[in-house]
Amino acid sequence: MKNLIVLTGAGISAESGLGTFRDSGGLWEKYRVEEVATPEAWEQNRALVTDFYNQRRKQLLTVEPNEAHKILVQLEDFFNVQIITQNVDNLHERAGSSHVLHLHGELNKMRSTGPDAEVFELSPDQYEVCPDDVCPKGYLLRPHIVWFGEAVPEIEPAIQFVQQADIFVVIGTSMQVYPAAGLIHYVKNNVPIYVIDPHEIDHLPLNVTYLQCGAGVGAKQLFALLKN
Ligand code: OAD
Repeated sequence: MKNLIVLTGAGISAESGLGTFRDSGGLWEKYRVEEVATPEAWEQNRALVTDFYNQRRKQLLTVEPNEAHKILVQLEDFFNVQIITQNVDNLHERAGSSHVLHLHGELNKMRSTGPDAEVFELSPDQYEVCPDDVCPKGYLLRPHIVWFGEAVPEIEPAIQFVQQADIFVVIGTSMQVYPAAGLIHYVKNNVPIYVIDPHEIDHLPLNVTYLQCGAGVGAKQLFALLKN
């Protein structure tokens, strides 16, 4: 089976009801990145950062995977599908996707600030965490999120997946945040690239097939194109 590598961003979850970051009315209009999504913010105001992610987790409980998430699962019947997502929600997993790599971390996990950086999965009834929660070894727990200014540990495996792509698909990302936005440059020559987004994305390679529509409609079109 061919390798179908899919890079997703906030736009794929928009149709489930989760807001994007940079669209009008997006999350970064309501919050300042520096106040909630940086290591400095965590040092300076743990309560505010904790509250921000508690709200994001609470929202997770109110949304469901949409058509686009589900179509990516159906494509597993025909392709080796590897999803590389910038999203910190768990909608790909809840839809049933088998291979999901989270570049920017996961809302439903906390990580020890101790030397072993152990990761703990939260069950939905544990989604409301406290700023002073500690792991069983006594180290402070922090959100398992890649904050601005931090390294992206999963970028290396992501690059390797992209280099192995037979088909590359991008859904719902403004391609403004690096290193994720640079992944498209690792796609081999002659590999078809499909981009699904209602808005035009700057600086895309020339050989891109651009489906200018929402994720659900676009994923349906993609499914039809790929099955042929
Ligand atoms: P953005 O908010 O930057 O971009 C969202 C993209 O989704 C835009 O290109 C929109 O046009 C598109 N979009 C909107 N509605 C859509 C729909 N119904 N169907 C498909 N696409 C739609 O979000 P990301 O590119 O994901 O990082 O942002 C990247 C990173 O920046 C995030 O992972 C987050 C953020 O700051 C961290 O928090 C570390």
